[in-house]
Amino acid sequence: MGWRYRVGQFLGRLGARPTDEDLRLASEVLPPKALALFRTMAPGDQRHSLRVLRRLRGEGHCGPILEQAALLHDVGKAGAGLTLAHRSLTVILERVAPAFLQRLAGPAPRGWRRPFHAHLHHAEIGAARVAEAGCDPLVVALVRYHDRGAWPEGLAAWQADLDALRRADGRE
Ligand SMILES: [Fe+2]
Ligand SMILES: [Fe+2]
Repeated sequence: MGWRYRVGQFLGRLGARPTDEDLRLASEVLPPKALALFRTMAPGDQRHSLRVLRRLRGEGHCGPILEQAALLHDVGKAGAGLTLAHRSLTVILERVAPAFLQRLAGPAPRGWRRPFHAHLHHAEIGAARVAEAGCDPLVVALVRYHDRGAWPEGLAAWQADLDALRRADGRE
């Protein structure tokens, strides 16, 4: 996927607040603790996650595990001070200078490095939050592996769901 597309995707998320209908949908999919977690995300990330969910449903993928993962997959980005500038810069650096981005992110989420660290490691951070909110271990796994990495062999039956989530995420 081209970086221009990805930057445009982020710009499109600017200022997008979830509607009442969005929130109703989220509350139908998520149990209360998970819903509270969902609401900690930036409004644009909430809208993005809802678009991922709607795309999956439109493609005929459904079921509580995948739907919850769709809404929570980016929750690791919440509270990290990720501005639009960070997001755009990160997307460009991922493409042109990934090693430099790793250096910017540093080994730990401290000070000005925190947004870069959160962006790079949001899948792992999100998985820990989703587990803490009491979600099913499969939801946790889908969040953990949604953006990279090899899917555990023991969960092969869920590979198609992971692939569908990754595809929908890349398009929304
Ligand atoms: Fe993500
Ligand atoms: Fe995403």
